[in-house]
This record gives sequence, structure tokens and C-alpha cells, in this order.
Amino acid sequence: MKFFLWLKVLLRPAPKSVYQLLGGEKMVRSLVADFYHVMKTDPKASECLALHANDLQEADDKLFLFLSGWLGGPPLYEQKYGHPRLRMRHLKFPITTLERDQWLYCMEQALEKNKIDPSLKAQMMEALTGLAERVRNS
Ligand code: HEM
Repeated sequence: MKFFLWLKVLLRPAPKSVYQLLGGEKMVRSLVADFYHVMKTDPKASECLALHANDLQEADDKLFLFLSGWLGGPPLYEQKYGHPRLRMRHLKFPITTLERDQWLYCMEQALEKNKIDPSLKAQMMEALTGLAERVRNS
């Protein structure tokens, strides 16, 4: 009896990562592209945009690499640049609650645009809110 219980536990499928639930690389790339599109075009994100370089390509590439690992997919950012040290890497930008909330607004719009399941969206927003609060520095 015990043996069958163990067998059941061993054969249980591993829980899916958020990266898998989202649909993998294709969806993460789409989210990042829409995130920066909103930042670039929506006046509600203008202070957040103002902290970025004119060309958002590098930011786009790096956010994709970071999110890939953070969501439980391949740790691409770490492989290329080492530990993300997000707080340290944002210190050169004065980030207040205004920019933090604008950043989160862009992500929420991107998640909506990509029709992410509401409970997955809420879960991601909660985790990203904690992360964005950690990079706020003024
Ligand atoms: C959950 C929150 C956030 C995440 C996951 C995130 C992620 C990242 C990553 C991975 C980079 C690249 C770092 C590097 O390699 O140097 C980056 C750069 C940057 N982030 Fe964030 N970030 C967040 C919040 C914010 C907020 C609130 C702001 C406020 C405006 C911000 C502004 C920037 C800027 C200006 C850059 C430089 C981009 C460039 O190369 O032009 N980030 N972010």
C-alpha cells in the first residue's frame, strides 16, 4: 500500500512554472514588447519613460532576459550578466513611488493586452509590486 502511495507521489506531474503557464518565450517577449510600447506611447507613464535611454531596445532585451529566469524559465539574464542585483542596478535612476507605479501600470496594461488569465495576472502583479518597491530609491 505504502509502495503505491510513493509511486503516486513520484509519478505526479511537476507543477508548472509561471513561465510555462504564460506560454513560454513567445508570450514573455510579447509582454515585454507591449510593456515598452505602453511606456513609450502612454502619457500616464511619461516620468518613467523619461528615466530611460531614447532607444529602448537594450532595456527591452534585458527585461526579457530577466523575466525569463524570474518567471521560472531559462535563467538567461544570469547567464549573460551575472546576478541581477536589481536594486543596485537601479540606483543611478531616481525612482520614486510615481515612477514605480507607472512601471507597474505599463506591466498591467501589457498583461491585459495579452489576455493573461486574471488570477495569473493578479499573482504576477503582486510579485512585481514587491520587486518594484525594492528598486524604489527616493
Ligand atoms: C519589478 C520591477 C522592475 C524590474 C523587474 C526591472 C528590471 C530591469 C532590468 C532587468 C534592467 C536591466 C538592468 C541592467 O542590466 O543594467 C532594468 C533597467 C532599467 N530599469 Fe528597471 N525594473 C523594474 C522597475 C523599474 C522601475 C520602477 C523603474 C522606474 C522608472 C525602472 C527603470 C529602469 C531604467 C531606467 C533602466 C535602464 C534601461 C536602459 O538601459 O535604458 N525599472 N530594469
